[in-house]
Amino acid sequence: MPGRRTVLRGAALTPIAGIALTACAGSGGGGTPAKPTAPVELGAESEIAKGGAKLYREQNVVVSRAENGSLKAFSSICTHAGCAINKLQGATLSCPCHGSEFDAATGKVLQAPATVPLEELSVEAKGGKIIVGPGA
Ligand code: FES
Repeated sequence: MPGRRTVLRGAALTPIAGIALTACAGSGGGGTPAKPTAPVELGAESEIAKGGAKLYREQNVVVSRAENGSLKAFSSICTHAGCAINKLQGATLSCPCHGSEFDAATGKVLQAPATVPLEELSVEAKGGKIIVGPGA
């Protein structure tokens, strides 16, 4: 028996090109990624376990928590050529552009070509939320 086919002719062809073009500026080609320039609220403090880390891609920030409970935050803009780091595995951040790796707990370079550690940002937990950025 031949398979049934849903007939969608016509309706799906309405011209909507153009709308999609402006919606995806944030993912790679649309400008230089930037670290926060004002305090930003990232999310619940409880999201980061002791010894763990979380990458906030939209804000270009990684936050880690030491075993003693203290928080550290770094800009996740790669110090090699300025790409936004988009991968965190365990405590290792990997840059998609040329493969540099950084330690999310210290910001230090683990793998070249980057040679400069990630920029540390001030971080605090306020009312159960993590706030990062200048003056936080
Ligand atoms: S920009 Fe990250 S490795 Fe080159």
